Amino acid sequence: MLKQYETAKTDFVTAQPRFGSEVIEILSRTSFDEAEDEITAWEGYKPTPIFDLTGLAGILGLKAVCYKHEGPRFGLGSFKALGGAYAVLRSIQRELSDAEGRKIAVEEIRNGHFASQISEMTIISATDGNHGRSVAWGAQRFGAKCRIYIHAEVSPFRSDAMQKLGAKVIRINGDYDATVAQTRIDAEEFGWTIVSDTSWPGYCLAPLDVMAGYGVMAREIVRKLSEPPTHLFLQGGVGGLAAAVIATFHQEWGNAAPRSIVVEPELAPCLFASAKAGAPTSVKIEEETLMAGLSCGEPSQIAWKILENSVYGFITIPETLVAPAVRMLANGQSGDCRIEVGESAVAGLIGLICGATNPSLRDKMKLDCESRVMIIGSEGVTDPSLFQAIMADQD
Ligand SMILES: Cc1ncc(COP(=O)(O)O)c(C=O)c1O
Repeated sequence: MLKQYETAKTDFVTAQPRFGSEVIEILSRTSFDEAEDEITAWEGYKPTPIFDLTGLAGILGLKAVCYKHEGPRFGLGSFKALGGAYAVLRSIQRELSDAEGRKIAVEEIRNGHFASQISEMTIISATDGNHGRSVAWGAQRFGAKCRIYIHAEVSPFRSDAMQKLGAKVIRINGDYDATVAQTRIDAEEFGWTIVSDTSWPGYCLAPLDVMAGYGVMAREIVRKLSEPPTHLFLQGGVGGLAAAVIATFHQEWGNAAPRSIVVEPELAPCLFASAKAGAPTSVKIEEETLMAGLSCGEPSQIAWKILENSVYGFITIPETLVAPAVRMLANGQSGDCRIEVGESAVAGLIGLICGATNPSLRDKMKLDCESRVMIIGSEGVTDPSLFQAIMADQD
């Protein structure tokens, strides 16, 4: 049954992580603390569950496989709920502080003291769905206007979800990277504030806030587990998720932090390309991957500074495995609980199964019967019609 993973066409590159101070300093402990204090006080906050996939671990010859399921996160369907909304708040805070000539406290924003100034602000962002939903939710929550730029392939359901949160959604004729470029042009022309999950030269404050927000998820894992996992499989879009989780784990667990492997679609392998080149490297997206959240051609510059220092290996996975992996989780493997997830959630799972079943990869990833693996299931069903279509198909 796992033959298709064993024989799948993957590309793997082993990196040479130095574990320099960048890994724990770019995203400081204080920035994680501040994000955690704020986000865990929001109404509806609840740690997301971690499921033990004992059946799968047995089949793969591993000691344990844990799956952190981000579907229930704040009712928004993905871990992204933690980042964009928090970065909206911090961006509003920075803008008000500049205008007022003093540091404005978050409490002053929350208690409505600056409501009329905030209502004049416009937050803009590019997204393939989940980040924009979080930004729209944050802008609505804190009272700013919001414009979200999506590319040609973003599904109508995901677009509607952002409009329902009060955002004006603008469809761009191009890919994700083209939408990012358009936000930069429009922000410059109209004086709007970009809250992006990716950073570029000269722009990193909001992406750092976004990643600090993701740290809440990583700390939930640290608090829940009795010992660190040996391996961590993380899906990569621009690299923000992977960088935030790895930075948190290194702060909390030091040398006992797990060996991290970044997993990307073969159609959008910008982090893999960066690892090979030894520098942030863009790839051209010729075709959209089913894993919409991972369809990014340019790495986040600031995330890459953490990743190049800390990732053990980068792997690309084929499209053909995405739907089978979604079905595997939804149906439960060998007695494991059933988990309904979206396409971007399963990349880490696919990377793990390919690694564990292919003898050469298993060796390179140092997976064995003592391995305890953590996977981040980064989204629940964020597009029900796509999920139904995947489930209607057969392996
Ligand atoms: C569900 C999901 N998983 C993973 C990612 C990748 O995160 P990053 O772009 O920070 O690497 C995204 C990005 O949008 C996503 O939506």
